[in-house]
Amino acid sequence: MTLRAVIKGVGHYLPTRIVENAEFEATLDTNDEWIRARSGIERRHFAGDGETTSSMATAAARAALDMAGLVPDDVDALIVATSTADLTFPSAATMVQAQLGMTRGFAFDIQAVCAGFIFALSNANALILSGQAKRGIVIGAETFSRILDWTDRSTCVLFGDGAGAVVLEAAQGVGTPADRGILSTDLKSDGTYRELLYVDGGVSTGTTGVLRMQGNQVFRHAVEKLSQTATTAMASAGVEACDVDWIVPHQANIRIIQGTAKKLGLPMDKVVVTVQDHGNTSAASIPLALSVGVARGQIKRGDLVVTEAIGGGLAWGAVVLRW
Ligand code: UT7
Repeated sequence: MTLRAVIKGVGHYLPTRIVENAEFEATLDTNDEWIRARSGIERRHFAGDGETTSSMATAAARAALDMAGLVPDDVDALIVATSTADLTFPSAATMVQAQLGMTRGFAFDIQAVCAGFIFALSNANALILSGQAKRGIVIGAETFSRILDWTDRSTCVLFGDGAGAVVLEAAQGVGTPADRGILSTDLKSDGTYRELLYVDGGVSTGTTGVLRMQGNQVFRHAVEKLSQTATTAMASAGVEACDVDWIVPHQANIRIIQGTAKKLGLPMDKVVVTVQDHGNTSAASIPLALSVGVARGQIKRGDLVVTEAIGGGLAWGAVVLRW
């Protein structure tokens, strides 16, 4: 028998304010055609007044708990992947814990930028496999609209806000790739690429700062590193590309998504794509795509799913799981 962390529920929250590409044409030297052609993005959601990373994370967590048929106090570990916590501290996770009315267990944040959900899922898996938690909730939530430079056309048109969550539960498997649950994880980072994607503020500057990105440099790393990490994770799960039902990639750029699928030898009809409607929501993008993929009827119980992401750090990784 092999212990597995099985996904019992998934949910998401998107702010009601939708901003179409054309809205940027009023203030920036850009246009809908450029944004669509270079990124695949058509629109994104932006948080409204009073909406925060923790409030969106709480809404997504409630939806995932509802699907799992669980209440907050059924959960031992709550992890929020975010780079845009409401405050420097306490963690977004403890704020979510309070907003959910969860009176037990423990909560903490993980910060690995756009790869944050992959890192958080891997950590939740480790907590469950080590027996430290029987149930976990992993949330990716971001308000990147609050760290954008609205005068920089090369970045501000690319990002959006939102939250997604999954509920995990320990279950006994037989130790083969036929098991439901997380089958393997692969995490990587290389801090020498710091300058490619960072926020120019923080405790050391006394400001919140705004996002700075050398987009075309990040792009060059993305397809190669994403296909490598997905291949590594698939090999350690004991599965091959032909076994995969769905790739659920980080939703940053349709050209990165297409390039990675091609390198993995998978057709685009096996890829869950939401980038056109959400933009890049950083750590929220994969759980949002998982939730939308389930709601669309794409991802079904028993499907083999490969998730992969890369972001600031650089940090990247992949998780292979059976839904
Ligand atoms: O999630 C974390 C990881 N992040 C990513 O994965 C993002 C990776 N990078 C990308 O998605 C792409 O590199 C971008 C979408 C950011 C840019 O696409 P690109 O094909 O790499 O374009 P580029 O940066 O090489 O820029 C091409 C041109 C430049 O003009 P010149 O220098 O050739 O005259 C830019 O100034 O496009 C210009 N440009 C724009 N034009 C109209 C940049 N932004 C815009 C814009 N509208 N919004």
